[in-house]
Amino acid sequence: MSGAVVRLWDAVAVQHAPPGRGRTASGRIPTWSQEYVRRHGNWCRRTDTRGTDRVAHRYARALDSRWPHPILGDSLADEVVGKIDYDFEALGVQTSVVCQAALRAKMLDDRVRAFVKRHPDAVVVDLGAGLDDRMQRVGPPPTVDWYNVDLAGVTALRDKLLPPSPQAHSVAVSLADEH
Ligand SMILES: C[S@@+](CC[C@H](N)C(=O)[O-])C[C@H]1O[C@@H](n2cnc3c(N)ncnc32)[C@H](O)[C@@H]1O
Repeated sequence: MSGAVVRLWDAVAVQHAPPGRGRTASGRIPTWSQEYVRRHGNWCRRTDTRGTDRVAHRYARALDSRWPHPILGDSLADEVVGKIDYDFEALGVQTSVVCQAALRAKMLDDRVRAFVKRHPDAVVVDLGAGLDDRMQRVGPPPTVDWYNVDLAGVTALRDKLLPPSPQAHSVAVSLADEH
């Protein structure tokens, strides 16, 4: 890989601790910390092994695209949701979550779009890409290489569900492993 690199940790470092949650008065790590980990200064929820995290994000973006005035307008997200046999409604994704997911995605998209415009030789590495179709939303110049990194089962699913592109590459690896 060569050129400028932008790494997206949005995938796994997104959620702040819920309001009112912090260290206990005794300084001990509270029990909720078993559900949350600290990354890059943010508290984020540990990835749910049932995979609800990645589908919830995608579903939130799909719901946004169904609004008459969407924030992100990712119609591909909705198309992909339609291909997944999963009870999305049971997730109970609230409007505030849809707004949060769509706004965060839009903010990151805008930054990446501006970056690749300035650096058409860039290499984008989306860590914990899940089923996100950020590359399709950003529409980078054809000279940009885009790597979507995630666990093997997830990259296999992405390769089935998302349209192929010569500039997109799936990398099946656990970021927790030592390399
Ligand atoms: C909250 S989801 C976000 C997915 C995507 N970025 C999005 O916004 O829709 C977190 C992603 O990180 C991936 N992930 C979690 N632990 C990982 C690890 N150790 N190595 C690689 N990917 C991991 C999960 O499989 C999941 O796809």
